[in-house]
Amino acid sequence: MKLVDKCLIVENSEIQENIFRMKILSPQMCSIARAGQFLHIKCGGNKHALLRRPISLSYRLAGEDTLVIVYRVEGQGTQFLSEQKPGVKIDVMGPLGRGFAVDQEYGRVVLVGGGMGVAPLAELARVYGNKCTALLGYRSEPFLTREIGAEAGKLLVATEDGSEGHRGFVTDLLPRELSEQTIDLVYCCGPRPMMKRVLDICRTHGVRCQLSLEERMGCGIGACLVCSCATRDKNGNPGYSRVCVDGPVFWDDEVMLDG
Ligand SMILES: Cc1cc2nc3c(=O)[nH]c(=O)nc-3n(C[C@H](O)[C@H](O)[C@H](O)COP(=O)(O)OP(=O)(O)OC[C@H]3O[C@@H](n4cnc5c(N)ncnc54)[C@H](O)[C@@H]3O)c2cc1C
Ligand code: FES
Repeated sequence: MKLVDKCLIVENSEIQENIFRMKILSPQMCSIARAGQFLHIKCGGNKHALLRRPISLSYRLAGEDTLVIVYRVEGQGTQFLSEQKPGVKIDVMGPLGRGFAVDQEYGRVVLVGGGMGVAPLAELARVYGNKCTALLGYRSEPFLTREIGAEAGKLLVATEDGSEGHRGFVTDLLPRELSEQTIDLVYCCGPRPMMKRVLDICRTHGVRCQLSLEERMGCGIGACLVCSCATRDKNGNPGYSRVCVDGPVFWDDEVMLDG
Protein backbone atom coordinates (compact mmCIF):
# COMPACT_ATOMS: atom_id res chain seq x y z
CA MET A 1 0.00 0.00 0.00
CA LYS A 2 1.28 3.47 -0.85
CA LEU A 3 0.06 6.78 0.49
CA VAL A 4 0.48 10.39 -0.56
CA ASP A 5 0.50 12.72 2.37
CA LYS A 6 1.57 16.17 3.48
CA CYS A 7 3.82 15.27 6.37
CA LEU A 8 5.08 17.49 9.16
CA ILE A 9 8.86 17.82 9.48
CA VAL A 10 9.70 17.26 13.13
CA GLU A 11 13.46 17.64 12.82
CA ASN A 12 15.89 18.43 10.00
CA SER A 13 19.44 18.66 11.23
CA GLU A 14 22.85 18.57 9.61
CA ILE A 15 24.58 15.60 11.24
CA GLN A 16 27.74 16.03 9.19
CA GLU A 17 28.81 18.42 6.46
CA ASN A 18 26.11 18.16 3.74
CA ILE A 19 24.44 15.15 5.36
CA PHE A 20 21.06 15.68 7.00
CA ARG A 21 18.72 13.64 9.19
CA MET A 22 15.05 14.47 8.76
CA LYS A 23 12.27 13.17 11.01
CA ILE A 24 8.86 13.12 9.33
CA LEU A 25 5.59 12.66 11.21
CA SER A 26 3.22 10.20 9.53
CA PRO A 27 1.40 7.66 11.72
CA GLN A 28 0.04 5.79 8.69
CA MET A 29 3.31 5.51 6.75
CA CYS A 30 5.18 4.71 9.93
CA SER A 31 2.89 1.77 10.62
CA ILE A 32 3.40 0.16 7.18
CA ALA A 33 6.94 1.17 6.09
CA ARG A 34 9.50 -1.65 6.01
CA ALA A 35 13.31 -1.73 5.88
CA GLY A 36 14.63 -1.10 2.37
CA GLN A 37 11.56 0.78 1.12
CA PHE A 38 11.82 4.40 0.02
CA LEU A 39 9.87 7.65 0.13
CA HIS A 40 9.32 9.68 -3.04
CA ILE A 41 9.46 13.31 -1.96
CA LYS A 42 8.36 16.45 -3.78
CA CYS A 43 11.27 18.88 -3.58
CA GLY A 44 9.68 22.22 -4.38
CA GLY A 45 8.35 21.21 -7.77
CA ASN A 46 10.19 23.98 -9.68
CA LYS A 47 11.76 23.33 -13.09
CA HIS A 48 15.02 22.12 -11.51
CA ALA A 49 13.33 19.52 -9.34
CA LEU A 50 10.06 18.82 -11.09
CA LEU A 51 10.17 15.13 -10.30
CA ARG A 52 10.00 13.68 -6.82
CA ARG A 53 13.29 12.48 -5.33
CA PRO A 54 13.65 8.95 -3.88
CA ILE A 55 15.14 8.71 -0.39
CA SER A 56 15.28 5.47 1.61
CA LEU A 57 13.57 4.98 4.90
CA SER A 58 16.50 4.91 7.33
CA TYR A 59 14.57 3.86 10.43
CA ARG A 60 11.22 4.22 12.14
CA LEU A 61 10.55 5.72 15.56
CA ALA A 62 7.33 3.79 16.11
CA GLY A 63 6.58 5.37 19.50
CA GLU A 64 6.68 8.80 17.86
CA ASP A 65 4.87 7.84 14.60
CA THR A 66 7.94 9.17 12.85
CA LEU A 67 9.98 8.11 9.81
CA VAL A 68 13.65 9.05 9.70
CA ILE A 69 15.54 9.69 6.45
CA VAL A 70 19.24 10.48 6.10
CA TYR A 71 20.29 12.23 2.92
CA ARG A 72 23.26 13.95 1.32
CA VAL A 73 22.83 17.24 -0.52
CA GLU A 74 23.64 16.44 -4.16
CA GLY A 75 21.66 18.95 -6.23
CA GLN A 76 18.58 21.18 -6.28
CA GLY A 77 16.16 18.63 -4.85
CA THR A 78 18.14 17.63 -1.80
CA GLN A 79 19.22 21.27 -1.34
CA PHE A 80 15.51 22.16 -1.12
CA LEU A 81 14.99 19.41 1.48
CA SER A 82 17.91 20.67 3.56
CA GLU A 83 16.38 24.17 3.73
CA GLN A 84 13.02 23.00 5.15
CA LYS A 85 12.53 23.87 8.81
CA PRO A 86 10.71 21.84 11.49
CA GLY A 87 7.00 22.71 11.43
CA VAL A 88 6.87 22.82 7.61
CA LYS A 89 4.93 20.12 5.73
CA ILE A 90 6.38 18.22 2.77
CA ASP A 91 4.62 16.15 0.13
CA VAL A 92 5.61 12.50 0.54
CA MET A 93 4.57 9.45 -1.50
CA GLY A 94 5.33 6.12 0.11
CA PRO A 95 6.38 3.76 1.34
CA LEU A 96 7.41 2.49 -2.10
CA GLY A 97 9.23 -0.51 -3.53
CA ARG A 98 10.17 -3.99 -2.43
CA GLY A 99 12.17 -3.74 0.77
CA PHE A 100 14.53 -6.24 2.40
CA ALA A 101 13.21 -9.73 3.10
CA VAL A 102 13.14 -10.07 6.88
CA ASP A 103 12.88 -13.46 8.60
CA GLN A 104 12.80 -13.60 12.38
CA GLU A 105 13.80 -17.28 12.17
CA TYR A 106 17.28 -16.26 10.98
CA GLY A 107 19.92 -16.93 13.62
CA ARG A 108 22.51 -14.39 12.51
CA VAL A 109 22.65 -11.80 9.70
CA VAL A 110 25.30 -9.34 8.50
CA LEU A 111 24.61 -5.81 7.25
CA VAL A 112 27.20 -4.25 4.92
CA GLY A 113 26.82 -0.56 4.10
CA GLY A 114 29.01 1.91 2.28
CA GLY A 115 28.63 5.71 2.34
CA MET A 116 24.98 6.79 2.04
CA GLY A 117 24.18 3.08 1.64
CA VAL A 118 24.46 2.83 5.41
CA ALA A 119 21.16 4.74 5.79
CA PRO A 120 18.62 2.01 4.85
CA LEU A 121 20.40 -0.56 7.04
CA ALA A 122 19.47 1.24 10.26
CA GLU A 123 15.92 -0.15 10.25
CA LEU A 124 17.31 -3.69 9.74
CA ALA A 125 19.55 -3.21 12.78
CA ARG A 126 16.46 -2.22 14.74
CA VAL A 127 14.53 -5.28 13.52
CA TYR A 128 17.30 -7.87 14.11
CA GLY A 129 18.99 -6.31 17.18
CA ASN A 130 21.49 -8.70 18.78
CA LYS A 131 21.25 -11.14 15.89
CA CYS A 132 22.99 -8.78 13.50
CA THR A 133 26.53 -7.67 12.82
CA ALA A 134 26.83 -4.30 11.09
CA LEU A 135 29.86 -3.55 8.92
CA LEU A 136 29.83 0.12 7.96
CA GLY A 137 32.26 1.74 5.55
CA TYR A 138 33.06 5.38 4.84
CA ARG A 139 35.70 7.42 3.05
CA SER A 140 36.10 9.42 6.26
CA GLU A 141 33.96 10.63 9.18
CA PRO A 142 31.36 7.95 9.95
CA PHE A 143 27.69 8.80 10.55
CA LEU A 144 24.74 6.77 11.90
CA THR A 145 27.18 4.54 13.83
CA ARG A 146 25.67 5.55 17.19
CA GLU A 147 22.11 4.73 16.06
CA ILE A 148 23.05 1.43 14.40
CA GLY A 149 25.52 0.49 17.15
CA ALA A 150 22.79 0.94 19.78
CA GLU A 151 20.67 -1.72 18.04
CA ALA A 152 23.09 -4.20 16.41
CA GLY A 153 24.78 -7.00 18.37
CA LYS A 154 28.14 -6.10 16.85
CA LEU A 155 29.39 -3.08 14.93
CA LEU A 156 32.62 -2.74 12.95
CA VAL A 157 33.58 0.46 11.13
CA ALA A 158 36.02 0.93 8.25
CA THR A 159 37.29 4.24 6.91
CA GLU A 160 39.43 4.67 3.83
CA ASP A 161 41.51 7.38 5.51
CA GLY A 162 41.89 5.39 8.74
CA SER A 163 40.26 8.13 10.85
CA GLU A 164 38.09 5.50 12.62
CA GLY A 165 38.07 1.70 12.82
CA HIS A 166 39.73 -0.44 10.17
CA ARG A 167 41.77 1.51 7.60
CA GLY A 168 40.56 0.34 4.20
CA PHE A 169 37.38 -0.96 2.63
CA VAL A 170 34.42 -2.32 4.57
CA THR A 171 34.55 -5.42 2.37
CA ASP A 172 37.91 -6.31 4.00
CA LEU A 173 35.91 -7.10 7.15
CA LEU A 174 33.34 -9.42 5.59
CA PRO A 175 35.25 -12.70 4.92
CA ARG A 176 36.10 -13.12 8.60
CA GLU A 177 32.47 -12.58 9.67
CA LEU A 178 31.33 -15.22 7.20
CA SER A 179 34.07 -17.69 8.22
CA GLU A 180 33.68 -17.44 11.97
CA GLN A 181 29.99 -18.31 12.29
CA THR A 182 26.95 -19.44 10.35
CA ILE A 183 25.36 -16.44 8.65
CA ASP A 184 21.84 -16.82 7.24
CA LEU A 185 21.82 -13.73 5.05
CA VAL A 186 23.91 -10.69 4.15
CA TYR A 187 22.11 -7.39 3.45
CA CYS A 188 24.03 -4.86 1.39
CA CYS A 189 23.67 -1.27 0.19
CA GLY A 190 26.35 1.03 -1.19
CA PRO A 191 28.34 1.94 -4.28
CA ARG A 192 28.33 -0.60 -7.11
CA PRO A 193 32.00 -1.68 -6.82
CA MET A 194 31.41 -2.39 -3.14
CA MET A 195 28.27 -4.41 -3.84
CA LYS A 196 30.07 -6.43 -6.53
CA ARG A 197 32.79 -7.31 -4.03
CA VAL A 198 30.21 -8.26 -1.38
CA LEU A 199 28.45 -10.48 -3.91
CA ASP A 200 31.74 -12.24 -4.79
CA ILE A 201 32.62 -12.81 -1.15
CA CYS A 202 29.13 -14.14 -0.36
CA ARG A 203 29.28 -16.53 -3.32
CA THR A 204 32.71 -17.79 -2.22
CA HIS A 205 31.32 -18.52 1.25
CA GLY A 206 27.99 -19.91 0.01
CA VAL A 207 25.96 -17.26 1.84
CA ARG A 208 22.84 -15.67 0.31
CA CYS A 209 22.75 -11.91 -0.10
CA GLN A 210 20.22 -9.14 -0.75
CA LEU A 211 21.32 -5.90 -2.39
CA SER A 212 19.60 -2.53 -2.63
CA LEU A 213 20.14 -0.90 -6.04
CA GLU A 214 20.00 2.78 -6.96
CA GLU A 215 18.91 4.17 -10.32
CA ARG A 216 17.67 7.60 -11.32
CA MET A 217 13.90 7.64 -10.96
CA GLY A 218 10.90 9.32 -12.55
CA CYS A 219 7.43 8.27 -11.44
CA GLY A 220 8.51 5.88 -8.66
CA ILE A 221 5.46 3.67 -9.26
CA GLY A 222 6.40 1.51 -12.25
CA ALA A 223 4.93 3.56 -15.11
CA CYS A 224 7.80 5.44 -16.83
CA LEU A 225 10.59 2.79 -17.03
CA VAL A 226 13.27 5.41 -16.25
CA CYS A 227 14.63 3.19 -13.47
CA SER A 228 15.00 0.00 -15.56
CA CYS A 229 18.04 -2.13 -14.78
CA ALA A 230 19.38 -5.41 -16.14
CA THR A 231 18.39 -8.43 -14.02
CA ARG A 232 17.87 -12.20 -14.31
CA ASP A 233 14.59 -14.02 -13.79
CA LYS A 234 14.27 -17.15 -11.65
CA ASN A 235 15.35 -19.33 -14.59
CA GLY A 236 18.53 -17.28 -15.02
CA ASN A 237 17.35 -15.55 -18.21
CA PRO A 238 18.50 -11.92 -18.65
CA GLY A 239 15.86 -9.20 -18.77
CA TYR A 240 14.96 -5.90 -17.15
CA SER A 241 13.36 -4.87 -13.87
CA ARG A 242 12.08 -1.58 -12.57
CA VAL A 243 14.04 -0.59 -9.49
CA CYS A 244 11.07 1.38 -8.10
CA VAL A 245 8.58 -1.51 -7.94
CA ASP A 246 10.55 -4.75 -8.50
CA GLY A 247 13.29 -3.41 -6.17
CA PRO A 248 15.10 -1.45 -4.93
CA VAL A 249 16.07 -4.64 -3.08
CA PHE A 250 17.02 -7.67 -5.20
CA TRP A 251 18.30 -11.16 -4.43
CA ASP A 252 21.88 -12.10 -5.33
CA ASP A 253 20.78 -14.32 -8.24
CA GLU A 254 18.61 -11.54 -9.73
CA VAL A 255 21.19 -8.76 -10.00
CA MET A 256 23.56 -8.18 -12.92
CA LEU A 257 25.94 -5.62 -11.52
CA ASP A 258 28.13 -5.56 -14.62
CA GLY A 259 25.12 -4.71 -16.84
C1 LIG B 1 15.76 3.84 -4.11
C2 LIG B 1 16.68 5.00 -3.82
C3 LIG B 1 16.96 5.32 -2.51
C4 LIG B 1 17.81 6.40 -2.22
N1 LIG B 1 18.06 6.67 -0.92
C5 LIG B 1 18.86 7.70 -0.60
C6 LIG B 1 19.14 8.00 0.76
O1 LIG B 1 18.67 7.35 1.70
N2 LIG B 1 19.95 9.06 1.02
C7 LIG B 1 20.51 9.82 0.00
O2 LIG B 1 21.26 10.76 0.30
N3 LIG B 1 20.26 9.55 -1.29
C8 LIG B 1 19.45 8.52 -1.62
N4 LIG B 1 19.18 8.26 -2.93
C9 LIG B 1 19.77 9.14 -3.98
C10 LIG B 1 18.91 10.39 -4.10
O3 LIG B 1 17.66 10.02 -4.65
C11 LIG B 1 19.59 11.42 -5.03
O4 LIG B 1 20.77 11.87 -4.40
C12 LIG B 1 18.66 12.61 -5.25
O5 LIG B 1 17.56 12.20 -6.04
C13 LIG B 1 19.42 13.72 -5.95
O6 LIG B 1 18.49 14.73 -6.26
P1 LIG B 1 18.97 16.25 -6.38
O7 LIG B 1 17.88 17.02 -7.03
O8 LIG B 1 19.48 16.74 -5.09
O9 LIG B 1 20.22 16.15 -7.34
P2 LIG B 1 20.22 16.05 -8.94
O10 LIG B 1 20.51 17.42 -9.44
O11 LIG B 1 19.03 15.32 -9.43
O12 LIG B 1 21.48 15.13 -9.11
C14 LIG B 1 22.76 15.50 -8.54
C15 LIG B 1 23.78 14.44 -8.93
O13 LIG B 1 23.41 13.16 -8.36
C16 LIG B 1 23.26 12.18 -9.40
N5 LIG B 1 22.09 11.33 -9.04
C17 LIG B 1 20.86 11.76 -8.75
N6 LIG B 1 20.05 10.72 -8.47
C18 LIG B 1 20.80 9.61 -8.59
C19 LIG B 1 20.57 8.21 -8.42
N7 LIG B 1 19.36 7.72 -8.09
N8 LIG B 1 21.60 7.37 -8.64
C20 LIG B 1 22.80 7.82 -8.98
N9 LIG B 1 23.10 9.13 -9.14
C21 LIG B 1 22.11 10.01 -8.94
C22 LIG B 1 23.01 12.98 -10.66
O14 LIG B 1 23.41 12.26 -11.80
C23 LIG B 1 23.87 14.20 -10.44
O15 LIG B 1 25.22 13.95 -10.72
C24 LIG B 1 18.37 7.17 -3.27
C25 LIG B 1 18.07 6.85 -4.59
C26 LIG B 1 17.25 5.77 -4.88
C27 LIG B 1 16.96 5.42 -6.30
S1 FES C 1 10.66 5.40 -11.80
FE1 FES C 1 9.08 5.20 -13.28
S2 FES C 1 9.09 3.05 -13.66
FE2 FES C 1 10.49 3.28 -12.02
